[in-house]
Amino acid sequence: MISKRLLTLAGCINKQDKVVDVGCDHGYLSIYLVKHVHVLNIIASDINQNALNNAISNIKKEGLEKQIKTVLSDGLENVPRDIDTVIISGMGTQSIINILNKAELDNITKLVVQSNNNLFSLRQNIVNLGFYISKEFSVYENKKYYIIIEFLKGKKKYSKKELEYGPLLLKNKENRPYFRYLLKKQEEIWKRVPKNKTILIFKIRRKIRFLKKLAR
Ligand SMILES: C[S@@+](CC[C@H](N)C(=O)[O-])C[C@H]1O[C@@H](n2cnc3c(N)ncnc32)[C@H](O)[C@@H]1O
Repeated sequence: MISKRLLTLAGCINKQDKVVDVGCDHGYLSIYLVKHVHVLNIIASDINQNALNNAISNIKKEGLEKQIKTVLSDGLENVPRDIDTVIISGMGTQSIINILNKAELDNITKLVVQSNNNLFSLRQNIVNLGFYISKEFSVYENKKYYIIIEFLKGKKKYSKKELEYGPLLLKNKENRPYFRYLLKKQEEIWKRVPKNKTILIFKIRRKIRFLKKLAR
């Protein structure tokens, strides 16, 4: 069985989507999508030959080499143009943004993304590329939270708080445990900040006040 994080990413994909899994590594997500979502058109790609070989070997074990194409590629560089859905997960925000900034996104209608850091910058940059946030999930696994975001082509305006905490995560009371987790992290940072860093202290206190409301 694949991880909860990968399962949640898979939940954003429909059978008819033409998918590329950028940075596929082991290839488990592509394999799951073919076996359980019955996706008909899918490419597993990675920049690293060893990672791609790992995916190829797992795909062969499942007998899915006809259904899943594999491509050695930096981001979308060598990926055929007929895809409409891009999954990028398990990378940092800067790598994700670099990949998207270099890519031709005209045919792309859906992005499914999970970054390991800086979600404000992730949301802001992808919104600036002409996408809006259509789904957001917080997934607790391995003692941390993973945020999975689905973007669809289209325009929407967001406040700074929405970009930082997630417009849809903010609306859903089920995400209270995630906000409690963020609150705890901010309180730990607060304890370590030198007392002369007054602007930083002010900002952290403001975050803590806001998060306390969300965590209740
Ligand atoms: C931590 S793994 C994540 C694997 C999988 N996507 C997941 O979420 O479990 C990151 C993978 O991204 C690949 N990668 C990093 N930068 C890349 C790029 N610019 N283009 C394609 N793949 C990249 C790495 O080689 C590695 O296999």
